[in-house]
Amino acid sequence: MAAIAVDRERSAALIGRDIEHLSGAAYTRSTEAIRRYAYTPEYRNTLDWFAHELESIGFTVTEDAVGTMVARNRPPGEPSFGVGSHCDSNRNGGKYDGTMGVVTALEVCRLNVEHDLGLPLQLISFLEEEGSGFGQMLLGSRIIAQRVGEDDLRDRFRAVDDGRSFWEHAEAAGYEPARWRECAAVLDGLTGWIEMHIEQARVLQDTENRIGLVDAIAGYVHADVVVYGRGDHAGATPMDLRLDPTLVLAETAIELERLARAAGRGTVGTIGEVEVDPGLINAIASSVRFSLDIRGPLDEVYRGVAAEIAAFAQRAAEERGMRADYAERQALPATPMDDRIVGALEAAAATTGEPYRRMHSGAAHDTMCVADRVPTAMVFVPCVDGISHHPAEDADPADAALAAEIILLAIASLQ
Ligand code: GLV
Ligand code: MN
Ligand code: MN
Repeated sequence: MAAIAVDRERSAALIGRDIEHLSGAAYTRSTEAIRRYAYTPEYRNTLDWFAHELESIGFTVTEDAVGTMVARNRPPGEPSFGVGSHCDSNRNGGKYDGTMGVVTALEVCRLNVEHDLGLPLQLISFLEEEGSGFGQMLLGSRIIAQRVGEDDLRDRFRAVDDGRSFWEHAEAAGYEPARWRECAAVLDGLTGWIEMHIEQARVLQDTENRIGLVDAIAGYVHADVVVYGRGDHAGATPMDLRLDPTLVLAETAIELERLARAAGRGTVGTIGEVEVDPGLINAIASSVRFSLDIRGPLDEVYRGVAAEIAAFAQRAAEERGMRADYAERQALPATPMDDRIVGALEAAAATTGEPYRRMHSGAAHDTMCVADRVPTAMVFVPCVDGISHHPAEDADPADAALAAEIILLAIASLQ
């Protein structure tokens, strides 16, 4: 593998500077967390900042019909290698999830210019990876992969903030959702794709590795359960005359933990959203909606847990004289990475002399949708105590700089 004398300290300083800049007031809707999502001014500011940086090093920056940002140093359709991630955040997010990946991809593009390598590159920052705007994770990349239907975009996907459709919001922001099928062209000409991301677990920290080379990404099911009870007075209604849907929520939460533990092999299950209607201290709820996030590396195993918990919630509701409806929101299968790209990354990592390991990703990533059409891989860096989707998220720009160097070397070796 050809050596490239990268000044890692300088890369780390630039990456650290960029991350701090993008944590400023213009880029987040909250003073307590990083909160930015599609079609908000803070998200717009973030894309504009990246576009400005990329244009200053000779890239042409465009957006697809709904807002995924694409920057190229070659004309569209010509072969190029893809790098990037997402720069939207969890609603209660930190500085690093997604954004550090795009900033690191930007550093790869900068190094390509500085070292006069002439690599054909395409940086992509996917729209709405986190689902913070519309409750739909990986939305931009699923549109690109055509893993959505027109009805979803026109009607089913609704904004968390105001209930208006994705379509309406996209149009109001100046996009053309009617041309969503053309978004598939974002991946045209890509000969490979590498996404860098914080690990979001603590395997790297605990094993004292600085780099994770992802060989597979866990699949997931996202679903909603609505339990219909009977709203009533919390003080006047005797315990044996109630139809209280929160009890089904409680039983289902405990059962989900039991099922996921029993399934083992990396299976996890979470109830992350709970909506109690009407949500008053002195009223028995009329209904409760809760979300299910069930994941794992083995499709048949976590899918089995999803089927069992759906049946359990319905049975638990019936036993208490109520009804529960289960509806799948979306799902993606576990996704293996490409051996050749992972191999090139491994060879590049070995030349740096820094500790690395292969691993799987428990979190979902846009790379799952890229993998449909393009040979892909991911590079992880440690995050402190594995914490993410939380403002306490922390990661070291020096590790990101190492990742940038490894990605650059791998891409150069694959040309
Ligand atoms: C993505 O942010 C995920 O929840 O896996
Ligand atoms: Mn992410
Ligand atoms: Mn995330």
